[in-house]
Amino acid sequence: MESTSPTPNLPAKMRAWTLTSFGLTLSPSHPLPGVAPSSSPSATSSTTTQPPPTPTTPTTTGTNLLLRITHASLNPVDLHILRLFPPWLPFRRNPTPGFDFCGRVVAAGPAVNTAEFQLGDVVAGALSASDVFHGKGSLAEFLVVESSLVCKVPDVWGARGKEIKGEETVGLFGIAGQTAILMVQTAGVPPDTEEGWKGKRCLVNGASGGVGSILVQILKGKGAQVWGTTGSAEGEELVKKCGGTVINYKTYSPVTEFLQRVFGAEGDEKKLDFIFDCAGDESIFTNSPGYLKGQGKFISIVGGPSQGIVPYVLHKLRPTWLGGTPREFELLLLLPSKKTVREVGKLIKEGVIERGVVDGDKVWEMEELVEAYERLGSGRAKGKVVVRVGK
Ligand SMILES: NC(=O)c1ccc[n+]([C@@H]2O[C@H](COP(=O)([O-])OP(=O)(O)OC[C@H]3O[C@@H](n4cnc5c(N)ncnc54)[C@H](OP(=O)(O)O)[C@@H]3O)[C@@H](O)[C@H]2O)c1
Repeated sequence: MESTSPTPNLPAKMRAWTLTSFGLTLSPSHPLPGVAPSSSPSATSSTTTQPPPTPTTPTTTGTNLLLRITHASLNPVDLHILRLFPPWLPFRRNPTPGFDFCGRVVAAGPAVNTAEFQLGDVVAGALSASDVFHGKGSLAEFLVVESSLVCKVPDVWGARGKEIKGEETVGLFGIAGQTAILMVQTAGVPPDTEEGWKGKRCLVNGASGGVGSILVQILKGKGAQVWGTTGSAEGEELVKKCGGTVINYKTYSPVTEFLQRVFGAEGDEKKLDFIFDCAGDESIFTNSPGYLKGQGKFISIVGGPSQGIVPYVLHKLRPTWLGGTPREFELLLLLPSKKTVREVGKLIKEGVIERGVVDGDKVWEMEELVEAYERLGSGRAKGKVVVRVGK
C-alpha cells in the first residue's frame, strides 16, 4: 500500500476524550477525571481537540494504519487504568482512554501488506496495553494502530448474509471478543474444532456480560452444551439468545449448591468439563469438585479481591493435602494479538459467532461518555457498552 503520510484530507483537529485530573469513582457526583458531572451541561463541552495523528513515516515502523474511528466500546479494564494511573505521568499526559475500535483505513505505512488492507476497508481490533498506558486510546476520531492488531471486518455475518454494523462489531474484535477466544483456546480441546467440542459440558459464570455473551456463542457454535449464569430478566433473555441454558444465580442461591444438585448428583458422568468464570466467584472454584469433572478445568479472567494473585497462587500451587482444591485452575490475562483478533473474524465468517450484543441496543454519543462509563461501572451491562466516535 502506498504511504499517504501526512494525509491531505484530514482535518487539522479531531475530537477525542482526554483526561486532565485524577480520582475516578463512578457516580454523578464523582465524575471522570477532568470532566464535569454527567448531569451538568458542561459535560458535553469537555471533549477536547488534538491534532490528528499521522501514519508513521517510511523511516520508522512502516506497518501502521491510520484509522478514522466510527465506534469504540468500553471495558472494565479502562476503569482500572483510569483509577490507577494519573493523567499527569510524563508518559501519559492527558491520556485518551479506550481499547476497542472499529473504523476505516484512511492511510497506511509503506510496509503494510497491500493484499490485506486497502484504503476504505472497515477494520476493528483492540489496542495494545502499551498504547493505552501511554494515553493513546480509541476514544478519538483518528487513531494510528499497528496493523497486526487489526482485522478486516467481514461484510456479512457468516451464512446469514446479514450486513455487519460497526456498533455490533466493535466489542467482538475488541477486548471482550479476544478474551472469549483466549478462554476457548486455553481449554485446549484437541483439536480445537467443532468435533472436539461436541457435547462438552460448559458453565459460563457471568454469561450476560461483554465477554460472557460472546463466549456462550462460541462454545455453542462449536457444539458444546452451555449453561450460563445471570441474575436478571434481561440477562436471561440474552443468554438464551446466545444459545445458553440459563441459571439464575438469584433464584438458585447459593448457586454452588444448585450446581452440585444439577451436575453432581450422578457421579462424574454428568459433571461439567469446563467452568469459565467471567464474574469472579471464588466459591464456584473451591466447591467445584462437586460439579466439575476430575479432568475438568476452571478458567478465570477476573482479578480482584476474591480472585487475583493471592487466590491464583493458592489455587494453582497449593497441594490438595494443604487444603487446595483438586481441580485445574487457570487465570488469564489477554494481550490483544494478531492470533486472537483474526480468530474473531474467522468465527464470524463461519457463523460460529452470530451477533454482537449492544447493551440496551443503545449506542452512546461521544458527549455521553461519562454516562456510558457509569453504565459499564454499574456491573450490570448486558453485552457491550458502545460509543459512536465519528462517521
Ligand atoms: N483477564 C483478562 O484478560 C480480562 C479480559 C476481559 C475482561 N476481564 C474481566 O472479566 C470480567 C467480565 O468482563 P466483562 O467485560 O464481561 O464485564 P461486564 O460486561 O461489565 O459484565 C457485566 C455482566 O456481569 C454480570 N454479573 C455481575 N455479577 C455477576 C455474578 N455474580 N454472577 C453472574 N453474572 C454476574 C451482570 O449480569 P446480571 O446483571 O444479570 O447479574 C452483567 O451482565 C471483568 O471483571 C473484567 O475486568 C478480564
